[in-house]
Amino acid sequence: MKKFIENCPKVELHLHIEGTLEPEMMFALAQRNHLALPYKTIREVEDAYHFTNLQSFLDIYYQGANVLQTEQDFYDLMWAYLNKASEQNVRHAEIFFDPQTHTGRGISFETVINGLSHAKQDAQHKLGVSSALIMCFLRHLSPEAAQKALDEARPFRELIFGVGLDSSEMDRPPVLFKDVFHRAMDEGYIPVAHAGEEGPAEYVWEAIDLLDVKRIDHGVRSIDDPNLVDFLVKNQIPLTVCPLSNIKLHVFEDMAEHNIKQLLDLGVCVTINSDDPAYFGGYMNENFLATQAGLNLSKEDLYKISLNAIQASFLGEQEKAQLKSALEEYFNE
Ligand code: ADE
Ligand code: ZN
Repeated sequence: MKKFIENCPKVELHLHIEGTLEPEMMFALAQRNHLALPYKTIREVEDAYHFTNLQSFLDIYYQGANVLQTEQDFYDLMWAYLNKASEQNVRHAEIFFDPQTHTGRGISFETVINGLSHAKQDAQHKLGVSSALIMCFLRHLSPEAAQKALDEARPFRELIFGVGLDSSEMDRPPVLFKDVFHRAMDEGYIPVAHAGEEGPAEYVWEAIDLLDVKRIDHGVRSIDDPNLVDFLVKNQIPLTVCPLSNIKLHVFEDMAEHNIKQLLDLGVCVTINSDDPAYFGGYMNENFLATQAGLNLSKEDLYKISLNAIQASFLGEQEKAQLKSALEEYFNE
């Protein structure tokens, strides 16, 4: 099963580029940019990565992002992820970035987007990995700050595919960001949002009803509302589930308790993704392996989850058809 999962063609739909900052790169960039870190050794970093909930992770994650200063830093980060993705047979990735995490500390939007975009282009040409960028608004900040980020993105409109909503979920309902999401949609961005990770099923409804999202990121708390599950199934609104993230942030205490298999069996379009792999113990292969082992997923389950990811992606019909036939061929071998 290990080799089978590793060699399987994959599509990743929930990945924060800032969450791919490995401790080794954090030290290298701190040195390159003459910055002090609160850690002296990799061991100290690993010791700090014991999270109790989403907020305890976010505090450390935003601190880590401080080492990203120049266009080259953003290029190196994106290039490293796309190489890793290629090694793991990820054929296409839809990648979040958090511009406000950088502009808020004096790094220009242009620096961020240029570094990410150049690596994205190089990965398409040199590795054959396609990708799309989704700009997330930080929900712990104000809707006005999100609007400012949207304004700053305007000169780079054609480089960014969608908008998302991330960061602290509790007490920050999607409704707060209704206006900025509608303005983004008027500009042609495709909307997605994190909802139902720690927050209630009600936030998933709000993201669908008020923000018009095409996918829900996480969404595992949807299980608490049978009408919502029905709606997700009927409308095939995908959930980008991140199993190792959910364990690390104590959304579920143990993989055997994770509800992805239950959601799959109910007919929800669930997918497997890595969220912040440098912080949560693994990329796509590690997420698939841990989920398969914890829930005893069959090859049929893995096929359906992989097919869901192709279907849930924002690729064109032709690219989807190509990936589907590659997947079918792989499973029929
Ligand atoms: N930003 C990075 N990872 C996140 C997560 N799992 N939830 C919300 N915001 C995030
Ligand atoms: Zn996320």
